[in-house]
Amino acid sequence: MSKAVARNSAVASTILLCLALAFPTICAAQQTTLAATPPMGWNSWNHFADRIDDQIVRTEADAMVSSGMKAAGYEYIVIDDTWAGQRDANGNTQPNSKFPDMKALADYVHSKGLKLGIYSGPAARTCAGYEGSLGHEEQDAQTYANWGIDYLKYDWCQQPASVDEMEAAYTKMHQALLKTGRPIVFSLCEYGWHKVWEWGASVGGNLWRTTGDISDRYYAMAEIGFNQNGLEKYAGPGHWNDPDMLEVGNGGMSEDEYRTHMSLWAILAAPLMAGNDLTQMTPYTVQLLTNPEVIAVDQDPLGKQGYRVWQEGPFEIWMKPMADGSKVVGLFNRQRTTEQMTVNFSDIGINGSASVRDLWLHKDLGTFSGNFSVYVPMHGVVLVRITAK
Ligand code: GLA
Repeated sequence: MSKAVARNSAVASTILLCLALAFPTICAAQQTTLAATPPMGWNSWNHFADRIDDQIVRTEADAMVSSGMKAAGYEYIVIDDTWAGQRDANGNTQPNSKFPDMKALADYVHSKGLKLGIYSGPAARTCAGYEGSLGHEEQDAQTYANWGIDYLKYDWCQQPASVDEMEAAYTKMHQALLKTGRPIVFSLCEYGWHKVWEWGASVGGNLWRTTGDISDRYYAMAEIGFNQNGLEKYAGPGHWNDPDMLEVGNGGMSEDEYRTHMSLWAILAAPLMAGNDLTQMTPYTVQLLTNPEVIAVDQDPLGKQGYRVWQEGPFEIWMKPMADGSKVVGLFNRQRTTEQMTVNFSDIGINGSASVRDLWLHKDLGTFSGNFSVYVPMHGVVLVRITAK
C-alpha cells in the first residue's frame, strides 16, 4: 500500500471508528476543538525528572492557579516519565508507589479547573526504563480514560525504526485513544525522526516533537528554536510542531535569554509547556510566562507558525502573521554585544507606514515609515506588533 493510501485509510478508519462507537459528538469535538491553539501547560520532566510524585503534582497544580498561570491560559499538568509501576495480573497498567491513586489525582487537578496529562510510549520500556505500552495499547488508553486523563505524551524510546513502523505504532495508540471516546490530546515524541512534521497529523498527532531534548542553556535553546525555520507549513489548528518544553525559570539562562526563548516559542506557535517549579518563581519568571500580549501571539486563532524573513550572521528577524492582519516581528540578536537592528517593512509585506507596539514593554512606540530600528541586547530580542496604517 502506498503511503498516501495508507494515510487516507488511517483517516478513514478513524472516522469509521468514531461512527461505529456511536460517539459522534465526541469524535466531532475531538477533530475540531482539540488543540485548536497550541497546548499550554506544565510538564514535570525538565525540572523534576524522576523526582516527580503525587504530592508535587498537586502543589504544582495549586501554584499554576495561585501564580496566575491558569488565568494566562496554561491548562495541562503533565506527568512525564517514571510514574508507571508493574502491570496487574490482567495486564492493566498501574502507577508505582509515588502515585497512590491516579484517579484521585486527576479529580484533584480537575477540581482546580485544570487537565491532567500522562506519559507512555510504544516500546516495552519508557526512556527511563519504566513500563511502556507495547502490546497493551487499547488497555492502557482505556485505563487513562478511566482515570480521567486528558493528554498523552507518547515517547518512542527505542532504536530508530522505519517510517512505516513509526506511523503504525502512533496510529495504533491514536485509534485506541479514539476508541475510549474521551478527548485526549496526543503528543508525539520521536525527536523529529523521519520528518515527523510530514506525517504527524495523519497519525493523529496534535503536536509532535521536532528535535531532541532541550536543556537549560542559551546555545541549546537557540540551536533548537532558530532551526525551526521551514517547518511553518506543517503547523495549524489541531496539529503543531513542538520544539520541546520551556526552560524559563530553571536558572540556566539570563533574563534576556529567557525572553528570547519565550518570544521565539510564541512566534513559532509552539506548545507552551512550562518546565520549571511553579512554586518557586521569581516575579520576573512569572512575568515572562504570563505576559498576555506574548501569549496572544502564540495563541492567535489564525494558527500560523512564524518564520525568518531576514538574516545577517547572528542577527535574525522573524515574523508571524496574525488573525487581525498585523505582523508580530522578533528582532533577535544572537551576538554577545548589544546591537542596533532594523526591520524593513517591505520584508514583512507592509508598504508605507505602520504603527509599532512593544509587546514586552506593553508600549506603543509610534508610527514609522518604511522601517523600524531598535537596540537589541546580547542574546536578546525586541518583540513588536506592527500594524499597517
Ligand atoms: C525523552 C523525552 C523527554 C522526556 C524523557 C523522559 O528524553 O524526549 O522529553 O520525556 O524522555 O525519560
